[in-house]
Amino acid sequence: MTETTTLMKSHSSVRRFKEQEIPQADLTEILTAAQMASSWKNFQSYSVIVVRSQEKKAALYEFVPQEAIRQSAAFLLFVGDLNRAEKGAKIHTDSFQPQGVEGLLISSVDAALAAQNTLLAAESMGYGGVIIGLVRYKSEEVSELFKLPDYTYPVFGIALGVPNQRHDVKPRLPLSQMVFDEEYQEQSVEAIEAYDRVQAEYAGARATTTWSQRLAEQFGQAEPSSTRRNLEQKKLL
Ligand SMILES: Cc1cc2nc3c(=O)[nH]c(=O)nc-3n(C[C@H](O)[C@H](O)[C@H](O)COP(=O)(O)O)c2cc1C
Repeated sequence: MTETTTLMKSHSSVRRFKEQEIPQADLTEILTAAQMASSWKNFQSYSVIVVRSQEKKAALYEFVPQEAIRQSAAFLLFVGDLNRAEKGAKIHTDSFQPQGVEGLLISSVDAALAAQNTLLAAESMGYGGVIIGLVRYKSEEVSELFKLPDYTYPVFGIALGVPNQRHDVKPRLPLSQMVFDEEYQEQSVEAIEAYDRVQAEYAGARATTTWSQRLAEQFGQAEPSSTRRNLEQKKLL
């Protein structure tokens, strides 16, 4: 065990914050550390918009009513960003073709790695936070609010602040159900149901649905059309 792995294993999302600012020096330290995440070909295909003003947070909350956004000291919008790539590529060629799943995977993965670094760096300094993926479902409105240009899209945000709440660490799937020797192993129904019980026990009275019921809610229907529409508008699909 190291200080780093101990920190990583004590992670839990924080959704309620004290009315306390994050000094700019701390935020700069967090984001500078986050920026060292690996990225595809060092393209760094993401940008971060830092939102501190209460007005902007309130405007975002109108579309994405998550209390963590309103209470956060800083809300960081992670933007999948191939706009910068266009500027660089155009120096050498008139052909720029970022449309398709490769561009989306490259930029989303880069943003995700930097975001995880962000959260860990913040937690190491005593702050807490939560990733807010629900911005995706309002991507057209969010894009307009933050003036996102072509070849960019909101991947998720992170609400950051001084924790006013702590949850127990949420149990993960048994390692043996996620890490396989030499070849893939499909999951048994018994194993899924066993994890449903672990999750139910963790959630206690707060539980309304089981883990597998939430999978059914998410994947039992087609994806929201707004996400695709926004990506098409931004020339990424
Ligand atoms: C891509 C992504 C999007 C997420 N979006 C939301 C969100 O919109 N609202 C929220 O309350 N939590 C959100 N979360 C947090 C997850 O619910 C949380 O990480 C998960 O339940 C595990 O709990 P823990 O982080 O406390 O360990 C998101 C997490 C990820 C990775």
